[in-house]
Amino acid sequence: MLQNALQFSHFLLKEILTDYDHVIDATMGNGHDTSFLAQTVMPHGKVYAFDVQKQAILKTKERLIKHGLYEQVELILDGHEHLNNYLAKNESIKAAIFNLGYLPKGDKSLITLPTTTTQALDALLQHLADKGRILLVSYYGHSGGEEELKMLNDYCRNLPQKQYNVLCYHFINQKNQPPILFCIEKK
Ligand SMILES: C[S@@+](CC[C@H](N)C(=O)[O-])C[C@H]1O[C@@H](n2cnc3c(N)ncnc32)[C@H](O)[C@@H]1O
Repeated sequence: MLQNALQFSHFLLKEILTDYDHVIDATMGNGHDTSFLAQTVMPHGKVYAFDVQKQAILKTKERLIKHGLYEQVELILDGHEHLNNYLAKNESIKAAIFNLGYLPKGDKSLITLPTTTTQALDALLQHLADKGRILLVSYYGHSGGEEELKMLNDYCRNLPQKQYNVLCYHFINQKNQPPILFCIEKK
């Protein structure tokens, strides 16, 4: 059976990651992607995980400690648009994942935004390793979601083909706006 957007995003990450890679979870939330990334790059790699909510940091820390993954991760209470403040100037990032929207069971008015997501992508592309991938999972059913999806579509379509492969994975016959996955791969 075809994988859903989230499963396929992990498949595309696993395919390229090694245990020495540096990676980013740009939207930590409850820490599911952070844990997955930590497991995938352990024991030598490193995960930078960002969120603007203290609640996300606490939940994720608890999850990481429970699974023995805490050593692998730097938890950052800050917006992903400031990622350059946490990376070394020439640091190479092999992959990143953005799970866009609001925190499940959290404050539904606190959502990721087109402007800050664009800033984060612009900064991240400067660090992306060759053959590196950025995964963007777009949930767009909430108020403000359509605007972010439009931004993502425009951003991804305009990346130069000489430098990037860009994929859009979208179930087109499903109800209730299933998430849409974008993958940016540096050639
Ligand atoms: C859909 S949730 C992420 C779910 C998460 N991947 C998980 O495994 O639970 C989106 C998250 O993005 C966070 N967020 C919103 N704006 C942000 C920003 N500028 N930088 C980093 N995180 C942000 C929200 O606080 C929320 O926790």
